[in-house]
Amino acid sequence: FIPPSSGGAGGGVIAKDALGNDFKVSEFLASHKAGDRVLAQGLKGDPTYVVMAGDNAIVDYGINAVCTHLGCVVPWNGSENKFKCPCHGSQYDSTGKVVRGPAPLSLALAHATATPDDKVSFTPWTETDFRTNEEPWWA
Ligand code: FES
Repeated sequence: FIPPSSGGAGGGVIAKDALGNDFKVSEFLASHKAGDRVLAQGLKGDPTYVVMAGDNAIVDYGINAVCTHLGCVVPWNGSENKFKCPCHGSQYDSTGKVVRGPAPLSLALAHATATPDDKVSFTPWTETDFRTNEEPWWA
């Protein structure tokens, strides 16, 4: 007997919403527009943004909301199209790439996949960071 884990294959987890329920892709898509981002609970319990793509689907990566400076959760500012940390003013572009310090690094990434049963699966991102062409600092 193998007890069920909270994660899926390959070290992944099923995203949870703010209430601890499974994040539902259909509800997210029905109530948001392209470019919107909503926080879900991701890998290691970290708050992670699920992003709506332009074609009624989710973007295939989630953006970890933990500021790389001192760990505040970074809100999305849709009108400015960037993430702005309320703690010390760091800024990140729409992909989570750092554009203003004191944060030293971009926000971490995770792979995000919509599952056949309407959930989001986050799995670790171990490949090159497409925003910087560098190895992922978080892996
Ligand atoms: Fe975000 Fe300091 S924790 S800028």
